[in-house]
Parts: sequence; C-alpha cells; structure tokens
Amino acid sequence: MVEAQSPINLWGKRLVLGVTGSIAAYKAVGLLRSLVCEGATVSVAMTQAATKFVTPLTFEVLSGRRVATDLFESREEMAHLALPGQAHAVIVAPATANFLAKAAIGLADDLLSTMLLNARCPVIVAPAMDGDMWAHPTVMQHVQLLRARGVVVLDPEVGPLASGQVAQGRLPTELSILDAVQKALISQLDWRGQRVLVSAGPTQEPIDPVRFISNRSSGKMGYAIAEAARDRGAEVILVTGPSSLTPPSGVTAVSVNTASEMSDALSRHFPSSTVLIMAAAVADFRPKVSAGQKLKKQGKSELVIELEATPDILATLSLRRTSQIVVGFAAETEHVLSHAKDKLRGKGLDLIIANDVSRADGGFGSDDNAVVILSATGEQKVLELMPKRRLADEILTTVRELCLVSPRRESLVE
Ligand code: CTP
Repeated sequence: MVEAQSPINLWGKRLVLGVTGSIAAYKAVGLLRSLVCEGATVSVAMTQAATKFVTPLTFEVLSGRRVATDLFESREEMAHLALPGQAHAVIVAPATANFLAKAAIGLADDLLSTMLLNARCPVIVAPAMDGDMWAHPTVMQHVQLLRARGVVVLDPEVGPLASGQVAQGRLPTELSILDAVQKALISQLDWRGQRVLVSAGPTQEPIDPVRFISNRSSGKMGYAIAEAARDRGAEVILVTGPSSLTPPSGVTAVSVNTASEMSDALSRHFPSSTVLIMAAAVADFRPKVSAGQKLKKQGKSELVIELEATPDILATLSLRRTSQIVVGFAAETEHVLSHAKDKLRGKGLDLIIANDVSRADGGFGSDDNAVVILSATGEQKVLELMPKRRLADEILTTVRELCLVSPRRESLVE
C-alpha cells in the first residue's frame, strides 16, 4: 500500500473500480487496498479479459463485495445502473486501448463500458499499454475526445514495459491515481462551509400514551438530502421525526416525536445554520388534550377528539431569519403548482419543492420521487422521476445555483 498523505480521506465515499485486461491488472489489487484503507467503499467491475490476469476472488476478498463481471449475470441487481448511479467516482485502472476506444465512442457491449455510460460522477482513467499503442494516433484521438468530455485521463508513466520496450505506457503510479481521485472528489465538495439544517419524517401527536396522529412520511427524502449535503462537504444537522431509517454517519441527528419538539430542536439550531431544508411532514393538528392514561372504550360507539393547530415551524423560522436560505416542501394531491406557489409566498421561502404525493410511483414511502422546484424569483425546475438520493443532489445543486452562488431574493413569484 502506498502511503498517500491525503488532503481529505475517502471516508464515506462510494467508488467503482473498473479493471480491464492489461498485464497491469495486478496493480489494481494494490490500488483497491489503498482505496479501502483510505475509507472508501469500493465496488469492483472487471472485464472478461481482466479476469484472465487476476481472479475476481482477489478483488472480492479485498473489497468485501461481490465483483461484477457480466452484464447478464444478475438482471435483478442491475449493477450496470446501480453501481455508477450511486458512486462518487468511477476509476478505470488499468484501462486498455480497447477500453479507451469503447469509452470514446460510447460503445456499451459489456458491463464496464455500459456502466460508464450511466456514470454521472467524475470518471478517472489510468491507461496502461505498450508504448507504440499509446503513441498511436487513434488512441491519442480517443484520449483527446474523453478529456474534452471531462473524463480525467492520466498520462501513463515512462519506463520498462512487459514487452521489454522502454516507453510511455506503464500504469500511472498509485499515488498519482489516488491524487486524481481526491482532486475529483474535492471539486464535488461544493457545499463545504455551509451548515445545513434538515428536517425529515413525520411527527406523532399523542392522543394518549399508546395512540397518536401521524402521517405516511418515511423520512427517505430528508435523509437523502442530509446524506447528499454531507457528501458535498456541508456540516449537517438532521432533525428527524420517528423513522425506521438509520441517520447517515457523520451527520448530527436529533430525534423528536411531536411538532412542538421538532419546533424546539429546529429553533435551537436555526440561528447557527446557513440553510434550512424542511422536508418533514409536520402534523398540522394535534389533540387539544393528550390523555394521561389509555382511553377506554367503555361501551362508547364513537369518540370525538378535539384538535388544535400545531405551530407552523417553517413560517415562524422564516420570519426569524437573518441570512439563512429557507427551503420548504409542499406535499400536494391536487393543483400542485398553485398550492406550492401559495406556500412559497405565504411562508416567505426562497424555494419550495412541490411534491405530488398522490402519484403511485413517487411521494411518501417510495424510493423514487419527481418534483418541481419553484423559486421566490420566479424560476421553475422540473425534476422527473428518479431515486430520492439522486433527486437530493439535484435539489442541492438547484439551491446552490439559485440561492448560494447568485442570490436573487427581491422579487416574488407572479
Ligand atoms: N410545515 C411546518 N409546520 C407545520 C406544517 C408544515 O413547518 N405545522 C412545513 C413542512 O415541513 C413543509 C411546508 O411547511 O416544508 C409545507 O407543508 P405542507 O404539509 O405541504 O403544507 P401545510 O403548510 O401543512 O398546508 P396544507 O396542509 O394545507 O397543505
């Protein structure tokens, strides 16, 4: 393992390591070991040719994860979509001339090349091949094409090659690959310096010690936002109502039950936050009186419980803001955009995320969601159905673009 003095470690990062069929494939074993030791979770994908040089078992043992080798192996897992979709970076080391050609033209005839087309994260490619191959104009053209598209293609090292030739073609050093990975990840830390307060999940308003009023919120959207903000360098406080989810590591989680407890927790952390994202589904009403003992049936055929409104946490905090950006959600079942615009204006928000919770394929409890983001300055962004984790990143990108990089807070939605 190479002793890399990392400016950041790879803790919490999900990486895909693609290995192609070059004799340098054995060096990918050391690279994997270093990435794992730096704290990354690494999923390895090998081409069939790579498996001729090193067995998948070696990578499997060192990564602690199944190695993906075949596009058709397990359609249920959909590794070609799932792995690059969740990764913070894809590294291909070693990359053969054949792989560079496929990547350059978008050919997707095996697992790794298909994964590459699904990657929306930084891609780092470390080529290794014979000197004459690397110097060939076709290979050079492919490298230029990939670089122009934003792929980080490292230059191979000069030195003795397997053919006996001394030329440029050796796999870049492990240190330079780690360095490139870290640089690519730092450029993703666009929320560094922000202190983000996120609320998530439902609230529970007690009727008596064993019963409560609540709603169908699972907390998935708020948790995904907290995780995405953490991954992008923010300091995150997650105030969460009851949820079966585990708070993302590295995030300060505060558990609450009622709207009143949620209000207290958020009020405490709001003054020192720079952004509030209110994804919680706060109960609007609570029993006026919560019985001290379990309510008994006692032969009653009906029961009337008197309810009172809970405080509107978002509207209250928005009034108290100094320089915070305030983002709300609007859970709607009809007239989604017009209701969301009313809430945006009524609660004095910078942005509102309009969510049609009546959709069968999104909303409460679902792993996916589709939303429309409306800003106080009149911008509108439609985000089609996608996994909540990816949506969380899109939401953060929009908040950053509209409110943090170029704040325009004067006008209101027409
Ligand atoms: N919200 C809040 N406090 C409440 C109710 C809602 O802070 N007591 C927040 C939610 O977290 C969300 C936004 O206000 O970010 C809109 O919530 P939503 O339930 O869509 O709307 P309501 O304001 O409750 O209005 P209605 O139930 O009439 O749609």
